[in-house]
Amino acid sequence: MKVLIVGGGGREHAIAWKLAQSPKIDKLYCAPGNAGISEIAACVPIKAEDVDEICRFASESQIDLAVIGPEVPLAMGIVDELEKAGVKAFGPNKKCAQLEASKAFTKSFLARHNIPTAGYKEFTDKQELLDAVGIYGYPMVIKADGLAAGKGVVIAETKEDAVKAIEEMMEDKIFGSAGDKIVVEEYLTGIEASMLCFVDEHTIIPMESAQDYKRIFDGDKGPNTGGMGTYSPSLVFNGDLEERIQKEILKPTLEGFQKDGLDFKGVLFIGLMIGEEGPKVIEFNNRFGDPETQSVLLRLETDLLDIFSAVIDNKLDDVNIKWSEKKAVCVVLASGGYPGAYEKGKSIHGLNRVDKDIMVFHAGTKFGDRNGQEIVTDGGRVLGVAALADTHDEARTKAFDNVKKINFEGMQYRNDIGIIIKK
Ligand code: AMP
Ligand code: GLY
Repeated sequence: MKVLIVGGGGREHAIAWKLAQSPKIDKLYCAPGNAGISEIAACVPIKAEDVDEICRFASESQIDLAVIGPEVPLAMGIVDELEKAGVKAFGPNKKCAQLEASKAFTKSFLARHNIPTAGYKEFTDKQELLDAVGIYGYPMVIKADGLAAGKGVVIAETKEDAVKAIEEMMEDKIFGSAGDKIVVEEYLTGIEASMLCFVDEHTIIPMESAQDYKRIFDGDKGPNTGGMGTYSPSLVFNGDLEERIQKEILKPTLEGFQKDGLDFKGVLFIGLMIGEEGPKVIEFNNRFGDPETQSVLLRLETDLLDIFSAVIDNKLDDVNIKWSEKKAVCVVLASGGYPGAYEKGKSIHGLNRVDKDIMVFHAGTKFGDRNGQEIVTDGGRVLGVAALADTHDEARTKAFDNVKKINFEGMQYRNDIGIIIKK
């Protein structure tokens, strides 16, 4: 089989690494990929958002399966377009991709199907929103409705901060049309966890849980990022909680999709807050999480291609998905300045010093000019150093021991990945 992965971050490196273990795949492509992915897949210089070019390449190269990593091409309807071009694709269609592309769409879905989530109101008129500042007290949760590269949520501690965020989103349009509509929510407290699920039209199967660290600095300080590290399984999960999530969230979600005619196929990423009242949905994403995938796929024992094929054929129920009992920790190394402005092109040193049983998933990397041998930084999140071990603490120690072997100018990472942070 010929398989094309769309995207070029750490998540796509993890998907490529796992798929490369499948005996059924003869040739793996990745568009656009990165320096790390190029060791296991043929990288094609087409941007993930260039839906037309990806469809042309996939059709001309007779790709048997395209796997879509990021949310933007999904929201653009890449799966519908690939299918029109005769290429099977793993990921939700454009209609279902609204579950990530519009926060208001998801909130009304959750409310309609009585799935626990924070109370909310949506606004398209700036004055109405300014008059409603503080309706749920502080901190005030203010969200741009559309896609904003993980930066569209502001947790405003004061009225002044809230007004500033509203002006930036609705007046200065810092997120473009994604801020035309704003969702305001109650502030939830508890411990966050990410639950990625494989979904077809009849079945929803959660993967092993993971915990992401969204803020840039230790102790959950500073602005939100795409994610600075993960571990799996989440330390807060237990049998009772999993049962409640199944009954109160997963079951009504699948039934809601069926009632609403949402033929969702792919990965549903459920952001959860585990608080005193139990689990509540913070958000839905419609793809693998980054960097959750790096920790979670490290523990997957089943052939990922078999799972993707089963989802596409609506036969997910037939697959017996197996996970390793081992624990995973992934620490992200980011460029200095990220998630604000940062420089690219810094030489990365020490990759060859890393232990053999450590996976270094590349995110923003490319080959430098010097004979194409040197690897340089090419994005905000640069690498994910991932360790698998018998215990959580051992995995944590192994990951950080190896982080210390790598360096590039300005490199920053969080020291507390793997430690529980309660809000
Ligand atoms: P989202 O993109 O919706 O996941 O939001 C990004 C981050 O903002 C989440 O991971 C939470 O840390 C935080 N957040 C979002 N919604 C809420 C909420 N209603 N209450 C508390 N924190 C929230
Ligand atoms: N790690 C969060 C996300 O992928 O959206």
